[in-house]
Amino acid sequence: MNDEQYLRRCFDLALLGNGCVSPNPMVGAVLVYEDRIIGEGWHQKYGEAHAEVNCIRSVAPDNQRLIPYSTLYCSLEPCFHFGKTPPCVDLILEQKIPRVVISNRDPNPKVAGQSLAKLQAAGVEVISGILEAEGRWLNRAFFTWIAKHRPYIILKWAQTGDGFIGKPGERTPVSGPAALRLVHRWRSETDAILVGSTTAVTDDPRLDTRLYFGKNPLRIAFDRMGQIPADHHLLDDSTETWIFGKKREGVFSKTKFIPAEDKVPIDNLLEKLYKANRATLLVEGGANVLTQFLESGFWDEIRVIENVRRMGSGVTAPKVPADAILKEQFILGDDTVQIFARSITS
Ligand SMILES: NC(=O)c1ccc[n+]([C@@H]2O[C@H](COP(=O)([O-])OP(=O)(O)OC[C@H]3O[C@@H](n4cnc5c(N)ncnc54)[C@H](OP(=O)(O)O)[C@@H]3O)[C@@H](O)[C@H]2O)c1
Repeated sequence: MNDEQYLRRCFDLALLGNGCVSPNPMVGAVLVYEDRIIGEGWHQKYGEAHAEVNCIRSVAPDNQRLIPYSTLYCSLEPCFHFGKTPPCVDLILEQKIPRVVISNRDPNPKVAGQSLAKLQAAGVEVISGILEAEGRWLNRAFFTWIAKHRPYIILKWAQTGDGFIGKPGERTPVSGPAALRLVHRWRSETDAILVGSTTAVTDDPRLDTRLYFGKNPLRIAFDRMGQIPADHHLLDDSTETWIFGKKREGVFSKTKFIPAEDKVPIDNLLEKLYKANRATLLVEGGANVLTQFLESGFWDEIRVIENVRRMGSGVTAPKVPADAILKEQFILGDDTVQIFARSITS
């Protein structure tokens, strides 16, 4: 196996932390002695051990003597600073690992190449920049979070073959069961989900992950005019929720009402999410809200699920901007899923 193949293994391991480590990056690490993997690890949970620590801990007692003769592969530059855990760069030096291969430098100003410099100064052979574009794509939310001080924004909608997202005033399922499960997985991987007031009223969505495992994200709904009926799921206080609108009668412990007499400026919402440490936002519609994000340029990725069925008339789906780059496309039953990125994150 070569360096690229071991780094791809790091990416696979990193992805196991998807949805559990935000706003930290997903990181995977592999320790290799003479073309044999002797340790593997990934960052599993925010605030807990980093990938390098878990990788070194995983080495069997009989193999521990091989560590000073091995190569450590890591999808991201090891950390340099005391955060919730001690610096991984010092662990690598303590373990006398002679060679380190990474994909991306950590853009966090607290790291930013300092760990690589420290390793090199101590005589460690350091190779960086392997599969850099793949590493950036894996951690696109983290890179956006650090560079733009706002969450990574994913716009998502389901449309019929003739371009409609629903019928006005009635809840209209558009996609099939497999695509629905996929959406619940996407939810589990994000930190917050937003819907407009018309969607909140018409669809009575729960915005949870009941069809997949993992955490429920923060639910957010616009409700300037106080139109969401009191018995709707978004007001059931079952999980953390922000409602932009007047405080409702009743006892709420997980629901925060944020006064909003006028339209909420999108940048204002993003700033609130940044302050609340939410590094990814999934915007689930409807068309009005999605279009505001598209028109203001606040989007990083678009996920469109298109069903073969036709509806004839209804609420028109937003348009994917002409310069969006198609990154992925696959078929799930009667649905085609397309994932688009902005050129900046591709
Ligand atoms: N297929 C899909 O993927 C999908 C997903 C979601 C929804 N839908 C469908 O889409 C339809 C609803 O879409 P829609 O375009 O009519 O409405 P919408 O986007 O769900 O909601 C629009 C309303 O949200 C409020 N709003 C929007 N931006 C706001 C802001 N920045 N600050 C505060 N409030 C804001 C406004 O209400 P006020 O003027 O009252 O403030 C606005 O009229 C429904 O039929 C639903 O079933 C389909």
